[in-house]
Amino acid sequence: SFIDQLLDLKQLELRLSQKLGIENCLVVAGDSDDQLQVVDEMGKLVTNTLKTLLPHGRNIIAAMGGTTIAQIAACLTPDIGLQRELLFVPARGGLGERMEIQANNVCARMARRTGGKSRSLYVPEQVSESTYRPLLKEPAVQEVVNLIGQSNAVIHSIGTAMHMAHRRSMAPEVIAMLNKKKAVGEAFGYFFDEKGQIVYRISRIGIQLEDLASMECVIAVAGGTSKAKAIVSYMKHAPKQTCLITDEGAAKAILKE
Ligand code: BG6
Repeated sequence: SFIDQLLDLKQLELRLSQKLGIENCLVVAGDSDDQLQVVDEMGKLVTNTLKTLLPHGRNIIAAMGGTTIAQIAACLTPDIGLQRELLFVPARGGLGERMEIQANNVCARMARRTGGKSRSLYVPEQVSESTYRPLLKEPAVQEVVNLIGQSNAVIHSIGTAMHMAHRRSMAPEVIAMLNKKKAVGEAFGYFFDEKGQIVYRISRIGIQLEDLASMECVIAVAGGTSKAKAIVSYMKHAPKQTCLITDEGAAKAILKE
């Protein structure tokens, strides 16, 4: 019955937060590997979580890109913006992805959905240090980087390492190295192996793993059986206050590990 299913999900949520060592896990029915609508269900929970966690008044919310967060953006509702002034900023530089899933675009969409504002960061995701250092000195870039530094909330996803490496068109020798080091997951430009060790890091500007500890609202959204290992690999680094919003497919696969 519906009630039984709800109880099962609650049970999964508890076991998952224990296993992953974070305070909150929310699990929706289904598997987003098979059904894209499952992501919309996760989107409803993101909306509820934002309404619960964001203080009234001014908020700076850093968002990552990707297919998941792009779909989540479309699910946000205007009531999040009630009694709040919302500013969405891309959590990291990120012009490497296709337009619709870039963080800049996701932020614009989130702002539109919630009656907030957004800013763009015009720094490509994968440029050499010698290229991005001078870019950082540009006042327009610096201003957004400063805003990212002041963010009190972050919304991000977690990707499977190889998928992300290919999607970002990383160099063949880097991909070979990631294979050799058995990278399974990626978040915030960091690649992790199954034990959660950082095996590679894209030098990008914006939010770094160590910045997450002091954030009051950290929402990770990732679902699908195929993302189970990736989620586990990142969670070794996730701050305790992280709220993971996931689906039954991922949750069951994680608990089997
Ligand atoms: C990217 C994030 O935008 O989305 C990555 O920068 C994350 O950290 C990825 O791994 C996940 O992408 P998707 O398409 O699986 O949601």
